Amino acid sequence: MRLLIIGSGGREHAIAKKLLSEDQVTKVFCAKGNPGMIMDGIERVAIEEDDHASLIAFAKEQAIDWTFVGPEVPLLNGIVDDFEQAGLKIFGPNKAAAMIEGSKEFAKILMTNNQIPTAEYQSFSEFEAAKAYVLEKGAPIVIKADGLAAGKGVVVAETIEEAIAALHDMLEDNKFGDSGATVVIEEFLAGEEFSLLAFVKNEKVYPMVIAQDHKRAFDGDTGPNTGGMGAYSPVPQIPDEMVRTAVDTVLTPAAKGMMEQGTPFTGILYAGLIATMDGPKVIEFNARFGDPETQVVLPRLVSSLAAIITNLLEDQEPEIIWNNRSTLGVVVAAEGYPGIYVQDTKLPDLTLDGNSNVYYAGVSEKQADLYSAGGRVFLLQTEGDTLEEAQSEAYQILDDWTLPHLFYRKDIGFKALESK
Ligand code: AMP
Ligand code: GLY
Repeated sequence: MRLLIIGSGGREHAIAKKLLSEDQVTKVFCAKGNPGMIMDGIERVAIEEDDHASLIAFAKEQAIDWTFVGPEVPLLNGIVDDFEQAGLKIFGPNKAAAMIEGSKEFAKILMTNNQIPTAEYQSFSEFEAAKAYVLEKGAPIVIKADGLAAGKGVVVAETIEEAIAALHDMLEDNKFGDSGATVVIEEFLAGEEFSLLAFVKNEKVYPMVIAQDHKRAFDGDTGPNTGGMGAYSPVPQIPDEMVRTAVDTVLTPAAKGMMEQGTPFTGILYAGLIATMDGPKVIEFNARFGDPETQVVLPRLVSSLAAIITNLLEDQEPEIIWNNRSTLGVVVAAEGYPGIYVQDTKLPDLTLDGNSNVYYAGVSEKQADLYSAGGRVFLLQTEGDTLEEAQSEAYQILDDWTLPHLFYRKDIGFKALESK
């Protein structure tokens, strides 16, 4: 099989590497990919994600069997609709279905209509009305820009003043542009967070093993929200019963609800959940694999990812088997991230043996050396019989590397280990 992946980050590196390791896959192209992928045999394609016509032409010329879309932006730009119209196979939600991630209000309406447990909320586009609602509800309270904001459009306000300042930024000062023209004000949910992803084909839902992301920049969950600083799987402190309930009360009704409202979903559905005292509740849906969750979830997939996607595209039952290993991933980011960060630091040789992997994200290449070229630069993924083993392996490897102008959290997995 010859496959094309759209995207360029660590998530796409992990997807491409897994696919390329499988017997039936002969070639994996990644548009645009990154130079760190090349040493794993992934071929980069110099076409921009939003140039659908050139991507379609490439897929035809190269006799690509199917295309997989990593990030949300091309999905919301209708890349699936365009490929399908051109008669090409592609795995991901079309533009209408990707709205489950593209608009928080769309997601909330779906949840209300299908009794999916989520935080109580209201949407506002006027500052005064929004402020009155915050004053009525009190703090802590959560303010979210309605559209996409790369993980930065959410403010968990501890005080009423903080909440009002966030409303001011979004509704009066347009700090988030159009994505903040409408805000969703949400009840604060207390409990531990976990990510539950599933392969979805219309009403059929095939859940993956769960993972936990670390959204804050610094140790002990302090500092600003980021795209994600590390992840691990499984998440032993989340009981199996909680996960089963989440499949039954969140993923299954979401897929069914999308069918019934005329926006059937095909692709990867990601539920960001909080394990509350009253069971799992949704804080967000994404229409794609998570980053960095993918980098720890896919290494646990024993079955062929290529076969699963081929089966789903052909409406056949896939075989999906996971191993019992523990995986852990630590993001190495550029100093300053998620604010203005240092760029162009030369990376040392990060070649590894055994079961550990480096998945590259923000990197560039000069004379065969890799340099940092983004906020999140790479992720180191390790595995073990236990999370402790995976964690100590990760930090032993990181300790051995000299990483100037880069930083990483030293406590990935801490909640699992604390709960023991
Ligand atoms: P999001 O971009 O929606 O994933 O939100 C970013 C982070 O804010 C999440 O990872 C949570 O830690 C936190 N968060 C979002 N919504 C809520 C909520 N309703 N209650 C508590 N924390 C939340
Ligand atoms: N790790 C969070 C996300 O991919 O949205």
